[in-house]
Amino acid sequence: MKSIITNGGGLDNLKIIKHPTVEPKLGEVLVRWRATSLNFHDYLVAIGGIPVPADRIPMSDGAGEIIATGEGVSEWQIGDKVMSLFFPNWIDGRPTVAKTKGISGETINGYITEQSCVSAASLTKIPNGYTFAEAATLPCAALTAWRGLVTEGNIKAGDKVLIEGTGGMSIFGLQIALAAGAQVFATTSSEAKAERLKAMGVTEVVNYKTDTRWGKTINKLTNGGVDHVLDVGGGSTMQQSIEAATIGGSIISIGILGDGRKGSITFPKLFFKHLKLTGIAVDSRLSQEAMIKAINLNGFKPVIDKSFEFDELASAFRYQETGQHFGKIVLEWS
Ligand SMILES: NC(=O)c1ccc[n+]([C@@H]2O[C@H](COP(=O)([O-])OP(=O)(O)OC[C@H]3O[C@@H](n4cnc5c(N)ncnc54)[C@H](OP(=O)(O)O)[C@@H]3O)[C@@H](O)[C@H]2O)c1
Repeated sequence: MKSIITNGGGLDNLKIIKHPTVEPKLGEVLVRWRATSLNFHDYLVAIGGIPVPADRIPMSDGAGEIIATGEGVSEWQIGDKVMSLFFPNWIDGRPTVAKTKGISGETINGYITEQSCVSAASLTKIPNGYTFAEAATLPCAALTAWRGLVTEGNIKAGDKVLIEGTGGMSIFGLQIALAAGAQVFATTSSEAKAERLKAMGVTEVVNYKTDTRWGKTINKLTNGGVDHVLDVGGGSTMQQSIEAATIGGSIISIGILGDGRKGSITFPKLFFKHLKLTGIAVDSRLSQEAMIKAINLNGFKPVIDKSFEFDELASAFRYQETGQHFGKIVLEWS
C-alpha cells in the first residue's frame, strides 16, 4: 500500500512511499482510507510553516471504511463508513493539553494513505448519503465553523453572522448559519465569488480588497453590526472584525490568513463594545457527532470546488495556493 510523506520541505518534496499493511492491535481498527480534503493547516505542514517530525503522513481529514477490527472493538463492524477526528484524543468536554496534543497530519500521521490502524475511539460515522469525498471535508473545516457558531456562539434564528472569504471553513459557516435561521453577510476578494455567495443566500457581500474598512461597511449595512464573526485573518482582519460586530457580539478567532500571525487592535473598541473574543481550534468527537446529527436532519452537502487523485497532492496544494477555490478541495481514490 502507499502513503505520501512530508518533511516540511515544500510541495516539490512530497514523496510517495510503499509499505506493508499492518494488523489492528487491541482497541484499534484498520481503515481503508478513500478520501481526504485540503485545509490551510495541511498546506502549512507541507511547506514547513508548521514543523513536523521526519516522514510525517500529512492531511488532517480522512474518510474511508473499516476493513478489520482488533481485539476488544465492539462499536465498529467491517464495512462501516467512518471519518477521522482532527484531535483523535479529544472525546468530549473542554480541551486540555492531553486531549489536544495529538493532531492528525501534524504530531501524528494523517490520512493521505491507503490504509492505517487507528484507535476505534478516534472515528465517527459519516453523515447519511455522503460520499467519502464529502465526508472528508468535515472533520477540520466544518467542525470549526460548527464550534464557532453553535458550541461557543449559541447561534439563534434571526442572528446576523459575518463570514470572511470563501475558503472551506467559511462556506461551512455560511451553511450552518443559514440552517440555524440566521442572516449571513460575507467578504470576498472576487466579484464572481460574491455572486455565488448571494446565490447561496448571503444578504450582502463586501470586497475586502477594494474596501479596506470593510468592517465599518458591514456595521452600516447591518444597522449596528453582526452577532457573530468567524475571523480568518487574525492580525490582518481582527480590527475590521471588531468594527463589524454589534455591541455584545461574539468574535471567533480561527485563522491567520493574509500574514495575520501577529497584529494590533484598538482595545477600547473591544471592551466598550462588550465583545466576546474566543480563540478556538476545531472541537471534540462529541461535537463532531452532534454536527453529523444536525447534517442528517438538515441534509446540506459540502461545496466541493475541485477533486484530485491520490498522487496529485502537490497539484492540489498549488491550486489552493492560487486562491481560486470556493469551498473545499478534495482528493479521492479507489
Ligand atoms: N482554528 C481552527 O481550528 C481552524 C480550522 C480550520 C481553518 N482554520 C484557519 O482558518 C483559515 C481558513 O482556512 P481554510 O482551510 O478555510 O482556508 P482556505 O480554504 O484555503 O481559504 C482561503 C480563502 O480565504 C480567503 N482569504 C484569504 N486571505 C484573506 C484575508 N486576508 N481576509 C479574508 N479572507 C481571506 C480567500 O477567499 P476569497 O477568495 O473569497 O477572497 C481564500 O480563497 C486559515 O487561517 C486556517 O488555518 C483554523
